[in-house]
Amino acid sequence: MALLSVITAPDARLKAKSLPVDGVDGEIRALMDNLLETMYAAPGVGLAAPQVGVQKRVIVIDVAEKDETGEPFRLANPEILWASEETILCEEGCLSVPEFFAEVSRAERIRLRYRDYDNKDCGLETEGRLAACIQHEIDHLDGVLFIDYLSVLKRRIILRKLIKARKLQAQKIPA
Ligand code: NI
Repeated sequence: MALLSVITAPDARLKAKSLPVDGVDGEIRALMDNLLETMYAAPGVGLAAPQVGVQKRVIVIDVAEKDETGEPFRLANPEILWASEETILCEEGCLSVPEFFAEVSRAERIRLRYRDYDNKDCGLETEGRLAACIQHEIDHLDGVLFIDYLSVLKRRIILRKLIKARKLQAQKIPA
């Protein structure tokens, strides 16, 4: 396994639509494992392939709290089949938008289908934090970031701060 470097906004690669995978083979399994390792190291609760520069519809998630046993999800071609009209507000963050958090409204309950680690077609109905996290990660596959749900002004402020932080970081690297 290997740690991958996570792309931060603003970056055109985070705005692109990712393509479905033909199936979950050894290459996709390795991608899933590396995404999961990178996510745990960050640490984060979810990571999508386009965040590491791979335009494929693959996401990993583990929303377990610190004192809970982790339950990692590795999903290929996740597709939401049904979403409840009831919504929940969750505070979200994103490894591609470091150090910013904001409340986003998501469907409270969703039903989805996906291909699992063994290339099996699976279904899942879930709610709450896990459902919100899955919606956040699927958004990444369609080039959508959680800050896209905020006001234009708020988004501009965040992106400006991210650009500034990136410039400072670049200066720290010795020539
Ligand atoms: Ni994210």
